[in-house]
Amino acid sequence: MKIAIVYSSKTGNTEELIHLIQELFIKKNVVVNLFRIEQFQFNVLKNYEAIVIGTYTWGNGNIPHEMMDLFRAFETQDVKNIVTAVVGTGDSGYPNFCGAVDEFKSMLYYHTHLAVTLKIEVSLQQKDMSRCIRFVEIVLEKILLYRSNLKIKS
Ligand SMILES: Cc1cc2nc3c(=O)[nH]c(=O)nc-3n(C[C@H](O)[C@H](O)[C@H](O)COP(=O)(O)O)c2cc1C
Repeated sequence: MKIAIVYSSKTGNTEELIHLIQELFIKKNVVVNLFRIEQFQFNVLKNYEAIVIGTYTWGNGNIPHEMMDLFRAFETQDVKNIVTAVVGTGDSGYPNFCGAVDEFKSMLYYHTHLAVTLKIEVSLQQKDMSRCIRFVEIVLEKILLYRSNLKIKS
């Protein structure tokens, strides 16, 4: 199973969340490749079976500038066989809470097999743990389901 987690974080909240998500995959005996957006080579996205995106929200509900090339790569490459998921932190004091998660969600729903999205209020709290566990379970379930669908078709 080749899974990438690609994320961006300005002040550390999303990074902390992503490290938890990575740990939860490892607890399920699944190896994931973790990349900050600056390190990720996104010329061939379809080399991955699944990609998890982690993003904060900036401006007025916007995707961070540094995540836009990844967004466009999904729009323009052949990614129809990739399972995707989006997780993000935001602040509900702003009108568009986790707007960047919503933007990715709409695009990935159209272009990929979007499994799940998750929005976290600012920084991780104990109450978020069960939601993060479920997030990882759904990603893994979706990968297995999609694999079995591919086998039936072939
Ligand atoms: C200038 C600015 C604009 C922001 N705009 C939004 C927004 O529109 N929606 C939202 O949910 N959060 C917004 N936030 C909150 C951040 O997304 C939130 O603090 C997030 O946890 C930061 O993630 P990071 O620590 O990974 O950088 C904004 C924060 C700042 C400083």
